[in-house]
Amino acid sequence: MCGIVGYIGDDQAAPILLDGLEKLEYRGYDSAGIAVFDGKQIEIKKAKGRLKVLEELTHDGANMPGVVGIGHTRWATHGEPSDINAHPQYNKDKTIAVVHNGIIENYQKIKDKLTAKGYKFISETDTESVAQLLDYYYEGNPLEAIIKVMQRIEGSYSLGILFADHPDKVYAARKDSPLVAGIADDGSYIASDVTAILKHTRDVYYIDNQEIACLTKEGITFFNMDGEPVQKESKHIDWDANAAEKGGYEHFMLKEMYEQPKTVRDTMSPRIRKGHVVIDDLKMSDDDIRNIGRLHIVACGSAYHTGVTAKYVYEEMARIPTDVDVASEFRYRDPILDKNDLVLIISQSGETADTLAALRLAKEKGIRTLAIVNVVGSSIAREADEVMYTWAGPEIAVATTKAYSAQLICHYLLAIRFARARGEITDEQEQAYVADLEKLPDQIDMLLNNKKKIQKFANRYIGAKDIFFIGRGIDYAISMEGSLKLKEISYIHSEAYPAGELKHGTISLIEDGTLVAAIATQKKLYPKTVSNIVEVKTRGAFVLAVTNEGDTDMEEHADYVIYIPQTNQYFTNSLAIIPLQLFAYYVAVGKGCDVDKPRNLAKSVTVE
Ligand code: AGP
Repeated sequence: MCGIVGYIGDDQAAPILLDGLEKLEYRGYDSAGIAVFDGKQIEIKKAKGRLKVLEELTHDGANMPGVVGIGHTRWATHGEPSDINAHPQYNKDKTIAVVHNGIIENYQKIKDKLTAKGYKFISETDTESVAQLLDYYYEGNPLEAIIKVMQRIEGSYSLGILFADHPDKVYAARKDSPLVAGIADDGSYIASDVTAILKHTRDVYYIDNQEIACLTKEGITFFNMDGEPVQKESKHIDWDANAAEKGGYEHFMLKEMYEQPKTVRDTMSPRIRKGHVVIDDLKMSDDDIRNIGRLHIVACGSAYHTGVTAKYVYEEMARIPTDVDVASEFRYRDPILDKNDLVLIISQSGETADTLAALRLAKEKGIRTLAIVNVVGSSIAREADEVMYTWAGPEIAVATTKAYSAQLICHYLLAIRFARARGEITDEQEQAYVADLEKLPDQIDMLLNNKKKIQKFANRYIGAKDIFFIGRGIDYAISMEGSLKLKEISYIHSEAYPAGELKHGTISLIEDGTLVAAIATQKKLYPKTVSNIVEVKTRGAFVLAVTNEGDTDMEEHADYVIYIPQTNQYFTNSLAIIPLQLFAYYVAVGKGCDVDKPRNLAKSVTVE
């Protein structure tokens, strides 16, 4: 996600801003920029690429004199990485500059409204709509204009704002995207997270939702949405800089697991309008969707696992015949593709070599391609005919969690959109699915709060040699991801098996005390999975079951049961995976493994 810094004080702002942005580089970004008031006007310099490019452009800040400014590292969500799309974004006469982290969900509506009033937009970003809307509402009082804008925009945002005719102030505002403020000897600061300002002060204010901060070099005043001053307590940060990068979590993986409620919400909400799925990024018409003969999902690793889940959803909900392939197989097996087929490519990084090769093969054969990607402007995103972005922000840990969860959301949304276009579901059914989807973030949050219980259970298995995961249907797909999470970070051998397949060989491996994780969320398959649990139990296995709340009879069969909240059968993967992620994480931590950077693995496998 993006990084924000702001400063006002006695010292030159530009070098302070650049230094603060350096501390936020770990968050991942593709462009950077700063705005400084030079005594007469707001000077803005910004560039695509690494911070070094900006440092060279500004001679390390030397050619941008001034004691008040804002800075930004951008992780692109709307609009490719470019100089123009970099922040700060500004209004037409550069008297207002804005840096933003988050997603303005209704930016297109705001952009259309202001364009109709004669405003000219120069970037592809959602953030520019904030800068222009501030201009539209501004009549000399920054706080009033900011409040009006906050009443109008929807989505998640943390904002840093400069007004040229108020050069003795920096403004900040926040909804859902973290933002902190701090007072030091040399002035006042804002930042996306404490990492950027720890060297100046360890006493920070966490700006709360729908609060506005006004920074002067003497201090900070906070306001609510009624423009009334708000008293806030500062918090003392005793983390070191390294811990601060992880937001106080021990590992990026744990931090990213806890970001999943927000990631799921960020990926879903802009695509749900009044109970219906509206995917603006999808150029395909209803006719195109109705003409899809077959869906070929192609990916690697966890991205592939989302495809295994999605196959059941596309086929059962949208009645589209669906194949799922590991990209390294697809690209060499000369697949039979029909001109009316759709190849659906899934990739967090957008750079996985096998997946990119599979995309190119489909295009060579003249087959329409749609990619679900997290990194904006990545090779797969650029080369696919269509792209649907997951808005998970940068994922630092090698083992994917939040991007995986966001990919599942994109599948569900596409399946609902396809099913509607093909007349397979009614309006009421669509609204019911959407209602269930909208509950997922809170349900994930609740499951994450289970971590102590799972940590305790996981500690019993840090010495395990083999751990099996079984399930049927979507539960099998969940088992695959649960197994991969465990083995890739704890190095314990693990396999996922269709529960009905065990008796065809693998069950011979089950010994006294072997841990078998049985996923049983699919109601129509529940009795069958229970019988598989009994099978392995009679061979001495210790069974951890993951099932729906209310299925308490499971306690008669399994040794340890984790319940997930009730949701639609198609969406249980998004919930059941949470305890399995936590289990894998705590086993790996218990073993002292390098959780964020497991041996032999890379975050993006850009070679064959
Ligand atoms: C998952 O935890 C692994 N990091 C790996 O399986 C990953 O999902 C796979 O390499 C695909 O990466 P991509 O989504 O960036 O294409």
